[in-house]
Amino acid sequence: MANFRVESRADGAVEVWTIDAEANRNAISRAMRAELEALVVAAREKRGLRAVVLTGAGNKAFCAGADLKERATMNEEEVRAFLHDLRRTLRQLELSPKIFVAAINGAAFGGGTELSLACDLRVIAPHAEMALTETRLAIIPGGGGTQRLPRLVGVGVAKDLILTGRRVGPEEALRLGLVNRVAPDADVVAHAVALAEEIAAGGPVALAAAKAAIQEGMELGIDSALELEYQKYQMVIPTKDRLEGLAAFREKRKPAYKGE
Ligand code: COA
Repeated sequence: MANFRVESRADGAVEVWTIDAEANRNAISRAMRAELEALVVAAREKRGLRAVVLTGAGNKAFCAGADLKERATMNEEEVRAFLHDLRRTLRQLELSPKIFVAAINGAAFGGGTELSLACDLRVIAPHAEMALTETRLAIIPGGGGTQRLPRLVGVGVAKDLILTGRRVGPEEALRLGLVNRVAPDADVVAHAVALAEEIAAGGPVALAAAKAAIQEGMELGIDSALELEYQKYQMVIPTKDRLEGLAAFREKRKPAYKGE
């Protein structure tokens, strides 16, 4: 992996994926997108892995969006192909049974904010900023930003942010619901890892089922969505982990879940 550093934490339950292209402020090139997709696909098969923290190298940028240097060399067909691939990669990440926490350690502009929106949770450093800057570049968010942002923060706020392309700091991001937490200091990765470990203590099948119920249910009317929740519940009923959770409660000890 030339564009990512992957570290394992908490006995493999958590991985930290660091976008490793600091000289270009971790901007997304074609090669980097392909590596991200390969990591997301491989993660699905890692039984012990529960959660992934995604961050950027250095402290200037989480991800400065699409690689605009590379973009300048692309013809229209290549731009379309990149968009098509990026949209698929981010959707795979969003639908992954693993939980993704974005540790926004610096600027998250354009595709950088979109990458964080495909994650389940966002933690931002006190000095970081987010923006969907695309309209300033005479393009529009093409990595799901026009769809995921209004679903997260509402139509009015999404139009404000997308039509102005303005930058949002940590306090506003928290107030708008754009991020879940502001890390108290610059070590946002440590905070995101702690959050990922807290999540990883839950039952793995339950985590995947809860994520899928929320993700898929948001697209449905309430009656269909409640039916979907019922179906997702069926995934956890036959698991050994469910019985382990009950036994641990009875025996006043921490449960040891195996994901089965
Ligand atoms: N694609 C490719 N290279 C990028 C990049 C991008 N999206 N963003 C920054 N870089 C490169 C710069 O061109 C520069 O390269 P150079 O040293 O060869 O000149 C290097 O990263 C450092 O950039 P610089 O602007 O000097 O760093 P900074 O720390 O002062 O600011 C940002 C970082 C991210 C705030 C700023 O670079 C920026 O606003 N980038 C554009 C982000 C954007 O609008 N993305 C949306 C794309 S749709």
